[in-house]
Amino acid sequence: MEILIRPDPEDVAALAAQILAGYAGDGATLGLATGSTPLATYQELIRLHHHEGLSFSKCQAFLLDEYVGLPRDHEQSYYRTIRREFTEHIDIDDSAVHSPDGLTEDSDAAGRAYDEAIQQSGGVDIQLLGVGTNGHIGFNEPGSSLSSPTRLKTLHPQTVKDNARFFERAADVPRHVLTQGLGTISRARHLLLLATGEGKAQAVAALAEGPVSARCPASVLQLHPHATVIVDEAAAQNLQDSEYYRYADANKPHWQRH
Ligand code: F6R
Repeated sequence: MEILIRPDPEDVAALAAQILAGYAGDGATLGLATGSTPLATYQELIRLHHHEGLSFSKCQAFLLDEYVGLPRDHEQSYYRTIRREFTEHIDIDDSAVHSPDGLTEDSDAAGRAYDEAIQQSGGVDIQLLGVGTNGHIGFNEPGSSLSSPTRLKTLHPQTVKDNARFFERAADVPRHVLTQGLGTISRARHLLLLATGEGKAQAVAALAEGPVSARCPASVLQLHPHATVIVDEAAAQNLQDSEYYRYADANKPHWQRH
């Protein structure tokens, strides 16, 4: 796992956008995340599209997750969110932006269909990830199987609390989601996890330096052959070996420089 520490969220976003742009130009299958963390990265990719000719026209995109029970046109559905925050502002074909069907009556079948659709696209080339304060990725809450497929999950009360800021009342936050599983996410060829702010410091230390454990679902990144974690100083503050990560970053062989 490569851990890159940057001074602030803007630098995290600039580097993440640069890495993603390298894939987009080749017409890759992109794995997209919602939530607050990737917003600055999406802004930078939109800027690159408008001002530097970066095209997504040959890309496909798969979202990590979707709330169960929210209509697609609900402002907080991830179907709407990713379009509002990112894909409506670039040249990706709208029909190439996929998300789990949060309105399904049969979540097992919908989960299987989503995993099959990802595989039929050739698989995700790069998966963008945020991390929950409790260590979740996608909505794989603590205790999730490290090899899980896309399926229905119940949100942890901590996640409901964390996401209440997007809704008028905490009671409006859906309690269930369809989420790519940790097995699904792990099949992406490159995992790119971003974390900013001191609220993520504990989760970052656990995922990078703690044991691989379902208690911290994001620790599954330790098993992946190509995982990049970009954090700002605030999110890096609990890392034990941060000096080594900085040293390795500064002394990277030239062919590995982003
Ligand atoms: C969103 C997702 C979640 C978020 C995580 C962090 O699609 O899958 O895992 O990435 O909850 O959310 P923020 O970035 O809002 O702190």
